[in-house]
Amino acid sequence: MAVITIVGGQWGDEGKGKIVDLLAEKAHMVVRFSGGDNAGHTVINPYGEFKLHLIPSGIFYPGVVCIIGNGVAINPAVLLKEIKKLNEHGIDTGRLYISDRAHLIMPYHTLLDELEEERRNKGALGTTRKGIGPVFSDKAARLGIRAGDLLDAGTFRGRLGAALEFKNMVLTRVYGVSPLSLEEIYDRYSGYGEQLAPLIKDTTSLVRDAVTRGEPVLLEGAQGALLDPDFGTYPYVTSSSPLAGASCIGAGLGPGEIDRVMGVFKAYNTRVGAGPMPTELHDETGSLIREKAHEYGTTTGRPRRCGWVDAVAGRFSVQINGLTDIGLTHLDIYDGFPTIKICTAYEHGGRTLTTFPSDQTILEQCQPIYEELEGWQESIGETRNVEELPAAARSYLSRLEALTGCPVSLVSVGADRMQIIPIRSISPWQ
Ligand code: GDP
Ligand code: IMO
Ligand code: MG
Repeated sequence: MAVITIVGGQWGDEGKGKIVDLLAEKAHMVVRFSGGDNAGHTVINPYGEFKLHLIPSGIFYPGVVCIIGNGVAINPAVLLKEIKKLNEHGIDTGRLYISDRAHLIMPYHTLLDELEEERRNKGALGTTRKGIGPVFSDKAARLGIRAGDLLDAGTFRGRLGAALEFKNMVLTRVYGVSPLSLEEIYDRYSGYGEQLAPLIKDTTSLVRDAVTRGEPVLLEGAQGALLDPDFGTYPYVTSSSPLAGASCIGAGLGPGEIDRVMGVFKAYNTRVGAGPMPTELHDETGSLIREKAHEYGTTTGRPRRCGWVDAVAGRFSVQINGLTDIGLTHLDIYDGFPTIKICTAYEHGGRTLTTFPSDQTILEQCQPIYEELEGWQESIGETRNVEELPAAARSYLSRLEALTGCPVSLVSVGADRMQIIPIRSISPWQ
């Protein structure tokens, strides 16, 4: 067995794309297992800089099979655009397959995401407006349309007709906007179906064969643990599970088939969209991190909220994902910081909390309790060996390991694929 799940450990944008692009060199297959094009995974490698929303970050290796699993919601227009862009850069997408069970984002999903956010007004969640809440609601409500439906005109028309009848009632009677045209959507999506038909497959059998043969498989998550609908900062969360547990369901494997689970964390914390973030910095340090690391959303361009790393949330993330390893990114951003803070607990109503509360009102009122560590003045972007890291940087890593209860196995010191410090082997195939 050689299956590794890679998940986001914080609120997304931890650098999952970079880590998957790096590890995929030795993989046979990479499977994206959740989310949709709300995700934006940046990969910087010898081919250039890419922002992938749906295609697995293993696509740059000619021998790696890439699968968009059943757990992903696919906007076909976005997928086709992404394929085209990669092809224009000389990247072969001939080994890309999409699950026939993956749900499709339809025009009413993106429209309803917009309308719902506007209706929430000041209480808006700050979604990416890509239709994620509505598409996963429809999946649960058994009203969804799946990639496999595009392969049969009669099935597709029937399912679209049934869904649109209801959606148009909501659009016209609840929101007072114009109904959407069945013919227009049918024609457009039939066109997408023709283009995507060769890629649509029962991908579970492809994954099964690879796992049975013992081939190295990477399962690529989207978003981060604190955006999970169950364990995240509900209701300020996304609508599919970004946790390691979802990698089984979103790819078609059993829990016992996953060998290791790596959580990708930034050396600090960021968040896009609304919701509590106890360590958020509204001062110059927050702006310094944002500008130095260019913390602006990959998908929406929104400025990311920045703050010190939160080890209370980090420990929680380690536990709910069952992490075996941490991949720590952005350590280079701390170059030149005189000191660095880590939140080790929260203060709430005169009490010290060491666990992550489920109640958002409590979380909003929590004051971080910080431990302050020495910084380093050297630039670490060219460092490739842990022994060559400044002693203060090594102390920071050890403290994070102790506080989260999980070993740091990889340290990233820059956005490029090469800017990596391996600390311990994470797999039978590394
Ligand atoms: P993802 O959604 O988890 O794949 O992360 P994003 O791509 O949305 O955001 C991560 C950003 O940080 C991207 O711009 C990456 O190019 C960049 N990045 C990744 N790792 C590092 C690192 O170690 N140092 C620096 N400075 N940038 C990094
Ligand atoms: P990657 O995979 C960071 C956030 C949105 C919003 C909330 C709900 O690149 O790490 P949604 O559109 O999903 O209904 O929005 O979730 N969000 C992300 N934040 N990285 C992501 O993906 C995100 N995907 C969704 O900003 O707060
Ligand atoms: Mg991202």
